[in-house]
Amino acid sequence: MLDIKVCVGSSCHIKGSQTIVQMLQDAIAEHHLEDKITLSGSFCTGNCNRVGVTIIVDDKTFTGIIPESFNEFFRVNVLSRVSH
Ligand code: FES
Repeated sequence: MLDIKVCVGSSCHIKGSQTIVQMLQDAIAEHHLEDKITLSGSFCTGNCNRVGVTIIVDDKTFTGIIPESFNEFFRVNVLSRVSH
């Protein structure tokens, strides 16, 4: 199981964490990964920044995720880590 947490603290919320959660849900469904990934929200992880949203994949933290960088993030850091 890959554990993905999207920060929904106030800074990330303003930077669009709801959109990122939706994109994650869509991507997980599109790749039929529902039973390989757990998706949840997280409180502020202390990585607030001006760019985008913080996502934690297992114990690795990624910051500044925006819709424009989401696909690359998903391909490199999520798809590559779940076996098909
Ligand atoms: S609100 Fe997301 S890292 Fe602080």
